[in-house]
Amino acid sequence: MIKFSKYQPDRPAASKSIDEWQVEPAQPGDMRAIAELTAERDGGDPVLYERLIVEKQNASPDPTHLFVARQHEGVVGYGRVSFNRYESIPTGWYLAGLSVATDKRRFGIGRSLTEHRIEWVSRKADELFYFANSRNLASIDLHLSLGFREIVRGISVPGITFRDGVGILYRLDLGTKSK
Ligand SMILES: CC(C)(COP(=O)(O)OP(=O)(O)OC[C@H]1O[C@@H](n2cnc3c(N)ncnc32)[C@H](O)[C@@H]1OP(=O)(O)O)[C@@H](O)C(=O)NCCC(=O)NCCS
Repeated sequence: MIKFSKYQPDRPAASKSIDEWQVEPAQPGDMRAIAELTAERDGGDPVLYERLIVEKQNASPDPTHLFVARQHEGVVGYGRVSFNRYESIPTGWYLAGLSVATDKRRFGIGRSLTEHRIEWVSRKADELFYFANSRNLASIDLHLSLGFREIVRGISVPGITFRDGVGILYRLDLGTKSK
């Protein structure tokens, strides 16, 4: 289960600065670092996560693309964008799997990973979706600040449990952007 960030709507004063980062497509050699970030967030075995991530990438009949935020010391965040065909919510491009290293949070990395993926999808489609557990207020604020709007609450998504909350579907209209 994803461990959410503590909700702090007032941005805490930065006690340090961090180096610049680049957002770029993940390379095959990044899978271990992505698995380690997942294990740092949720607990568990990075080796197992690495296997699951690679299997998920290969098993999906529709395209899935992983992007990483990279500093000189390595990968400090990642986010996925995938084309999904669901029964009860719209078929289309979805943002998912956003995660930033605990000690690199609140410096804008999550936002730039999300802006990058929005820009990427805007060259292919007129709309983009994202869903969240209603308890994940940090993630929800981030996506609302980039223009996502709530569509419906109480969704169900195969393989996802919205523990102690409800699933909320959000949509971003990309129709006004040039293709
Ligand atoms: C959600 C997450 C990816 C945000 O990454 P981040 O790099 O810290 O986010 P940013 O610094 O880019 O923040 C952008 C905006 O998001 C919102 N936000 C981010 N973290 C927040 C927090 N803890 N509380 C409240 N708002 C938050 C704020 O509006 C913030 O803007 P501000 O800092 O100017 O106030 C990160 O907290 C994380 O990895 N959480 C665990 C995994 C997760 O929940 N992923 C989302 C699943 S879809």
